[in-house]
Amino acid sequence: MSTPLPIGSPELLARLDAHAKRLVATPPTTLFAQGQGRQARYTLEAEGLLVDYSRQLIDPAAWTDLLALAAAADLPGAVRAMVEGAIVNPTEQRPALHVALRDPNGSPLVLGDFDVRAAVRTERAKLASFVAAVRGGTRVGATGRRFTDVVNVGIGGSDLGPVMAVEALRAHAEPGLAVHFVSNIDGTEAVDLIARLDPTTTLVIICSKTFTTLETITNAKRMRAWIASGVGEGGVVGHFAAVSTNHAAMDAFGVAPDARFTMWDWVGGRYSMWSAVGLAIELAIGTPGFEALLAGAHAMDRHFATAPLERNLPVLLGLLSVWNGNFIGCHSHVVLPYAQRLHRLPAYLQQLTMESNGKSVTLDGRPVHGHTGTVIWGEPGSNGQHSFFELLHQGTRRVAADVLLPYESPTDSLDDAILTASNALAQANVLARGRTLEEVLADPKVRTAGAAGAALAPHRVHPGGRPSTVIAFEWLDPATLGKLIAAYEHRVYVESRLFGINPFDQWGVELGKVQAEALVPVLRQVPASASPAAWLRGALQVTGLG
Ligand code: F6P
Repeated sequence: MSTPLPIGSPELLARLDAHAKRLVATPPTTLFAQGQGRQARYTLEAEGLLVDYSRQLIDPAAWTDLLALAAAADLPGAVRAMVEGAIVNPTEQRPALHVALRDPNGSPLVLGDFDVRAAVRTERAKLASFVAAVRGGTRVGATGRRFTDVVNVGIGGSDLGPVMAVEALRAHAEPGLAVHFVSNIDGTEAVDLIARLDPTTTLVIICSKTFTTLETITNAKRMRAWIASGVGEGGVVGHFAAVSTNHAAMDAFGVAPDARFTMWDWVGGRYSMWSAVGLAIELAIGTPGFEALLAGAHAMDRHFATAPLERNLPVLLGLLSVWNGNFIGCHSHVVLPYAQRLHRLPAYLQQLTMESNGKSVTLDGRPVHGHTGTVIWGEPGSNGQHSFFELLHQGTRRVAADVLLPYESPTDSLDDAILTASNALAQANVLARGRTLEEVLADPKVRTAGAAGAALAPHRVHPGGRPSTVIAFEWLDPATLGKLIAAYEHRVYVESRLFGINPFDQWGVELGKVQAEALVPVLRQVPASASPAAWLRGALQVTGLG
């Protein structure tokens, strides 16, 4: 069941393993019996997030040893190293300073001869004035018409954060500008938008840290051709903005100097929605809303850097994640927002968590023994209940869950909030406590059904012991979203320290990208004249292995 971690003494790891075995073997009806005060003991409130982890497979002895594991990992030291700009990404020789993007501290934070905080402030000011000009109608399209639509062209970290946040904060969007996203290389999103938008009133943001990503460059060219068809070649430049570290490529594409925003190599793509990569978010919710998002994230950063381990929310989330994945034996981790507006959160967390912590070697290049990373998936909870919850409740594999629960109802109806909460909390309770065979057999409906009821009884058993954490908050507003996302970012960092790996590089995605580019000329040689089926057969043949 257990995975050897590179952190913690063999005795501590053995004790944790023994706790896990004991807790997995404890009947859920005993572990979660009434009157133990679990809810009060295992609830943490920090920065407006109310985290109830009483449905986890933990007890005081296990929790004490998990905190000892956190202490052994020197998390306070690791947090200091990150926020002070140490090289926490050694394979790329870079710091990871996403926290600096939301830090209002005016004093310098110097890397070499570069003041990170001053650069962030300068870029923030440039973004705010660009947003004011677009929203205020002083920056208009080539034909003099105001922009009504914005299309963010990007992928991965240059798409998932912005699209997740724009969707989450729809209720906070300022009127007048609709924001859309194009990421997939197959062209569908671009084609669908081109069919319904007007090129004369559309602003396109090319968002790409490298400005070389095949999907983004392909879609950017598609959008460019469409804009040119509406405003003429001469007008194209006024319809583009770009976010990148690659100034030569922005020159070559033809992005106006005052519509270019920079990124820095000390911010990873999946940690970048707080930078200029968030331009689409800022255009959607306005600068005050975006600044509230940054302030929320900063509040969580402060909490992470200062709260003691036992009251530290990201530490708690990270410990539980490693506990479930590496000791309890959970197969994966499902994210269940009971808020439709958070429907892109699971996709966002997939990149954040899996691109960060899906690693096979430790920081010093030795093979890890056991599992790193957490397989993340999910859907809005209420919809998931009518889809994959059967496996969560009765499948043979244990899956850990995050249940996200806002008090706010988009309909402003208390009754809708009650219905949503009752679904979320009932599911979390059943996942934890389950339903025993005895309880099923004691059900009057089963008893009166006689032999048929008894035969069905095993099918109605819920094993329980499926751990979940409820993360509740009042409002899904920019500040709360900032806090939530920063907490998840730091959860990933905590996990990486316990795994002893580098969460800030992504060598694993490079090889496939290079190979895809190498296959393009090979596939161009396959005759397209016969039929689609013949082309597909030819494509499979020339690219097949062995
Ligand atoms: O494919 C992985 C990746 O490199 C991500 O890390 C990154 O967020 C994404 O591609 C997009 O990269 P870029 O912003 O350079 O286009």
